[in-house]
Amino acid sequence: MKIAVTGKGGVGKTTFSAMLSRIYADEGYRVLSVDADPDANLALALGFPQKLIDEIVPISEMKNLVEERTSAEAGTFAKMFKLNPKVDDIPDRYCKEYNGVGVLTMGTVDTGGSGCVCPEHVLLKRLTSHLILQNKDVVVMDMEAGIEHLARGTAQGVDAFIVVVEPGERSLQTYRKVKKLGEDIGVQKVWVVANKIRNEKDEYFILDNVKKEELLGFIYYNEDVINSDRSNLSPYDNSEKTREEIKYIKQKIQGGI
Ligand SMILES: Nc1ncnc2c1ncn2[C@@H]1O[C@H](COP(=O)(O)OP(=O)(O)OP(=O)(O)O)[C@@H](O)[C@H]1O
Ligand SMILES: [Mg+2]
Repeated sequence: MKIAVTGKGGVGKTTFSAMLSRIYADEGYRVLSVDADPDANLALALGFPQKLIDEIVPISEMKNLVEERTSAEAGTFAKMFKLNPKVDDIPDRYCKEYNGVGVLTMGTVDTGGSGCVCPEHVLLKRLTSHLILQNKDVVVMDMEAGIEHLARGTAQGVDAFIVVVEPGERSLQTYRKVKKLGEDIGVQKVWVVANKIRNEKDEYFILDNVKKEELLGFIYYNEDVINSDRSNLSPYDNSEKTREEIKYIKQKIQGGI
């Protein structure tokens, strides 16, 4: 199962990605969690100790690696460089593992508009395709907010987009855009997880706006999740109720909803 978790800023993408990854890992699956947000914080949400987080170097910042693989100097607009750099050894070499979840942090690429082709971008895009195609049980990609990067095809080829929404019009607008884009680039399934639900009114709002066959489930607003975030702890270890809700969602993913 290769999943890209998307949605508007702050809706809970990282929280959901981390908890889903931990659930799969605890069930014995080989899980790779990809932090594809330039503002990377997935390892923290997964419960990685600070010491290990400090060791993480995002792929795009590995200048030597970028240069070695693309034959172009990183940070430059080289006229000639390899468009098919070797990437198959990168996941194993640069992934950090804790609690049974491997994390790969992609880093930022200053793409300077959708037309830009720079060596870092080519390496990341190729690496992402490789991650999607490789023989891992589960790949969960925590994406950058919004849809611009999706439009550049960074997550093309995944089995599903999971759009995290809140009970509000703005996050639903993002969902509609992702849905349209998913159809355009041939992503088979675009599913919704409704997060930060507080009451029945919120549930109805979601049910009114999301097709039943696309809705994976509700995650209720939970102070424990916020408190985990404040104390730099994994919500997986500290928010049992939310963990159970996401376990249920995982079952629906497995069953194709
Ligand atoms: N179910 C929930 N109940 C309460 N708080 C939540 C819930 N889910 C997420 N949060 C809180 O909302 C905030 C944003 O969550 P998170 O970082 O997962 O969102 P994000 O979509 O990854 O944000 P960004 O777009 O910045 O990457 C965090 O403080 C998190 O603890
Ligand atoms: Mg995030």
